[in-house]
Amino acid sequence: MSKRVMEKTSSGRVRKQLEALVRDLNHHMRCYHVEDKPEISDAEFDRRYRRLEALEAKTGLQLPDSPTRRVGAAPAEGFEPAPHRVPMLSLSNAMNEAELRAWDERIRRQLDRDEAVALVVEPKLDGVGVELVYQDGAFLLGATRGDGAVGEDVSANLKMLLSVPLQLAGPEAQCHGRVSVRGEVLLPLRAFERLNRLRRGRELEPFANPRNAAAGALRMLHDVDIERLRALEFRAYTAAEGLPKEVTRQSEILERLKDWGFLVSPETALCKNLKTAIARHQKLLARREKLPMEIDGTVLKVDALALQRDLGVLARVPRWAIAFKFPPHQEHTVVEDIFTSVGRSGALTPVARLAPIALGGVTVSSASLHNQDEVTRKDVRIGDTVVVQRAGDVIPQIVSVVKGKRRRKARWKLPKRCPACGAAVQREEGEAVVRCPAAACPAKLRNRLLHVASRAALDVDGLGEKIVDQLLEQKKIKSLPDLFELRKEDLLELERMGEKSAANLLTSLKRARKTTLPRLLIALGIPEVGAGVAEVLAAHFGDMDALMAASEEELLAVNGVGEVIARHIIVHFAEPANREELGRLRKLGVRWPTQAPVATAAASEGPLADKVFVLTGTLPTLSRAEARALIEARGGQVKGAVSKKTHYVVAGDAAGSKLRRAAEFEIKVLDEAALQALLENPPTRDED
Ligand code: IVH
Repeated sequence: MSKRVMEKTSSGRVRKQLEALVRDLNHHMRCYHVEDKPEISDAEFDRRYRRLEALEAKTGLQLPDSPTRRVGAAPAEGFEPAPHRVPMLSLSNAMNEAELRAWDERIRRQLDRDEAVALVVEPKLDGVGVELVYQDGAFLLGATRGDGAVGEDVSANLKMLLSVPLQLAGPEAQCHGRVSVRGEVLLPLRAFERLNRLRRGRELEPFANPRNAAAGALRMLHDVDIERLRALEFRAYTAAEGLPKEVTRQSEILERLKDWGFLVSPETALCKNLKTAIARHQKLLARREKLPMEIDGTVLKVDALALQRDLGVLARVPRWAIAFKFPPHQEHTVVEDIFTSVGRSGALTPVARLAPIALGGVTVSSASLHNQDEVTRKDVRIGDTVVVQRAGDVIPQIVSVVKGKRRRKARWKLPKRCPACGAAVQREEGEAVVRCPAAACPAKLRNRLLHVASRAALDVDGLGEKIVDQLLEQKKIKSLPDLFELRKEDLLELERMGEKSAANLLTSLKRARKTTLPRLLIALGIPEVGAGVAEVLAAHFGDMDALMAASEEELLAVNGVGEVIARHIIVHFAEPANREELGRLRKLGVRWPTQAPVATAAASEGPLADKVFVLTGTLPTLSRAEARALIEARGGQVKGAVSKKTHYVVAGDAAGSKLRRAAEFEIKVLDEAALQALLENPPTRDED
């Protein structure tokens, strides 16, 4: 292929990647800001957001609907739009001290200053950003941040908060004209717990965390619950309009806010340099559990307003402030039970049922133990007290067992028979997973249907757990393709299914039939074939028939496909039932356009050419095969053992001796986020 054509296809691919990332982030922004129902953690959101920022910076491409063009989400219907005269900004994050030091150096370089810059350290309140506007001292309106330019006018609800002054205090002259004060509305933890106790008593679903409860309360339109609003607290941290000239520092702004009658976080401190600011951060981290409200880090702000002006704002974030995030929460709890769940590929997964525990504001009541080897290694037993954490994502994990508190002696073992259908389970040689082989296993079918409906696969809107369970119970579906034979009459027999929802689901199914090869490959649910591998396979073979006909050798020739993936693909298509299933899907109108095969990077090409990686431990989201595929697709090599020739060790949970060897040889260690960052932004040849 000529160089120009290669460039064209690769830039086309980058654009697709950008589009997918923008679509994904926009979805999660709506979940978070509009629906108050986040599906992923803030940390995971940040990670994807950073990936987008990096990709945009690299390509110089910013799509018209890119979330980097805005801060937050557009107003939901129901409230009047409230434009902010001065845009409400967001903050960039530092995850560790190194990133913080880099920030401090950057600003001093920009200011051309050797001496330290004084910083105000404030708690980063985990609530809802709000602006309150006053005219000649009287409350005029209050609005949410919205997209940073236009928020929602939630004055009526905000006025119910006791900490929102309706009249500014202090001498008349201080509050002349228009004053706009910004801060965070939050629900103190005690009020949050009381509210959830009440909700449980009324058999209402408890709120996941105080932030969601606060956001929901502010946006109540009907049946306004005054008690809930009264429990909210507004803490002020800045004024965007109306500050008198003599106020020249952030620390002075905070004093002025107090004079006006606002509540300012008492945990705030003025620090003369970065070192004392970090010490202050550590002190707050140590007191985190004792604070009356949820905080997810600290915010460091340059104290002098003149310096803030010199530093200015970059895109949507000020250069003069940064959020220093806290590490994930850890807690102790008890393993009440260990049960076995059956996944869509039949994989048996041990899951620990935990005594419910609040972790970073979310109640955690179960944690996956992944497989038998993991249970054995961590030696988790029923009744054990364990350390659990939410590691920068929503998925909680068991870190270790508190052995001193062990009461029971019995080790836990995976059952020999599938708990859903009773078939004898199988374990392939060299694999960590045990599977149920039964084609008709109801648990497998259930999870396959949910998987097919998911966004990365055929994206069937409206096909959730409740509907799938009913379809299976009422025997309306006995195999995956049956999904596409559903008629309106079938759907109308389901509980809580009206004409409209039935019609919507049928439309979704109709739409889902028109798909793409990678999506269909994901939908087939072949083990280890996720988005990354599906994309590589589709690009290489261009068509399903070519892929189905491929020999092991041909599969191994695809960069990113190793022996494990190749075997799974061969096994999948060798099974007559699977071929039949695909045939039926085709017959029922599922269509995917054939694409022209594209040569993938050979080992000597690609941005990671000649780079040697070693994988160890369990990564939070990528399977080993997926990580290997992503690395190999960019020309990198994955080896089994660490040596002097290794460039990177990618380490996940429970990494062992390979990590020690990496330290011995002083090899760079990456976690999954760092790997993703490297894949998105590979080093240039002369950089390493
Ligand atoms: S300053 C400079 N100070 O965090 C512009 N924001 O991630 C940013 N937040 O939108 C505002 N505590 O809603 C600032 N002490 C604090 C904060 C804080 C929480 C929120 C705020 C902002 C978001 C950015």
